[in-house]
Amino acid sequence: MNSFTLNNNILHAENVGLNQIALEFGTPCYVYSKAALTLAFERFSAGFIGSDHLVCFAVKSNPSLAILNLFAKLGAGFDIVSGGELARVLAAGGDPKKIVFSGVGKTAVEMQAALDAGIFCFNVESASELTRLNKVAAEMGKVAPVSLRVNPNVDAKTHPYISTGLKNNKFGVAYEDALSIYLQAAAMSNIAIHGVDCHIGSQITELSPFLDALDRVLLLVDALQQHGIEIQHIDAGGGIGICYSNETPPEFKVYAEAMRAKLGERKVRLVFEPGRALVGNAGVLLTKVEYLKHTEAKNFAIVDAAMNDLMRPALYDAYHDIKAVQTRLKDDVTPTLTYEIVGPVCESGDFLGHDRNLALAEGDLLAIMSAGAYGMSMASNYNTRPRAAEVMVDDGVCHLIRPREVIADLFALEKVLP
Ligand code: LLP
Repeated sequence: MNSFTLNNNILHAENVGLNQIALEFGTPCYVYSKAALTLAFERFSAGFIGSDHLVCFAVKSNPSLAILNLFAKLGAGFDIVSGGELARVLAAGGDPKKIVFSGVGKTAVEMQAALDAGIFCFNVESASELTRLNKVAAEMGKVAPVSLRVNPNVDAKTHPYISTGLKNNKFGVAYEDALSIYLQAAAMSNIAIHGVDCHIGSQITELSPFLDALDRVLLLVDALQQHGIEIQHIDAGGGIGICYSNETPPEFKVYAEAMRAKLGERKVRLVFEPGRALVGNAGVLLTKVEYLKHTEAKNFAIVDAAMNDLMRPALYDAYHDIKAVQTRLKDDVTPTLTYEIVGPVCESGDFLGHDRNLALAEGDLLAIMSAGAYGMSMASNYNTRPRAAEVMVDDGVCHLIRPREVIADLFALEKVLP
């Protein structure tokens, strides 16, 4: 289902015109569809009905409390990578017993908070981290449930910045070292081995890297069993891509069937950490054209959203479709030109889209599509720009889930020297 559709020449979020949302909440503004979020979660989970599984939404992709709360109500667990994300999940009503904690640099304080909360599992990414976790847990008189994140050395065939399962990445423990680190873990008094974890990258649009990685994980699970270590769950990570333009990522159903088939008769729980696939296409960034500027080389549409609001184009050269909120009527004379869609930030890298054919006038509204994942979560205050408002549409009702930041707040914590 696409929850952002044209209706009477106006792009809608569910059944609310994006022009109405801009009028009420201003721009730039992130707009999410509750129906699209819900459907994505339900579709992802549907493939695993009848088998023991846990879907842990990757909080980093969109940490909005309203979104976390929605997923928590739908039964989701959460994949966190910091004490901050732990606090968010708990504040949003997430169940600590469904939290997995990933990340290469967990501090002792973060470990303590997670042990206190009683999380489901630590995804440990190095031998040193294991030693530290054992010590922290011992000091607290607790036993830490762990999986080792193994690096299966599989090419996820995605952008190098978001590929994580190759030998030269900082993530996980080398596949060859995993068995010996598991044996060390087994001998630690305050560590309980629960699972094996792997996550090979993001925006993966082919099935084969997931299956190759799972093959390697299953070989490890069998080797561990031969050493008397029984694994209760396999965490297959996240990474399923979405369609930004013409990509054809594996359908959830196909992914689920293939992963289940690989598992065969093994009695282990499957854990997943999808982020983008659950939120990416459920959100847009609404922006207004401030100025049109025609130079000898290019036509620029300068909009009120910028790289600080949506960093993906600047950082990864990522493509996001850009649609006019209001389609021009047939007899409209506004020329269709090829535009650079750029923001007001003082960098040439501040673009949201290159070479877009659009008929634009100043004051027009544009929707930057597929902005629900890694949009607001990577937004910054660069150029002292307040971060955008966030709105969630729920069956005709618009909820302001985060107001636009106020400029005074941006430097409220700062001090000049006496
Ligand atoms: N699990 C772990 C351990 C991860 O590191 C990630 C993402 C996920 C799960 C979720 O991956 P997803 O299902 O969303 O692909 N900022 C980049 C993406 C960075 C992904 C980082 N890790 C972007 O905008 O494309």
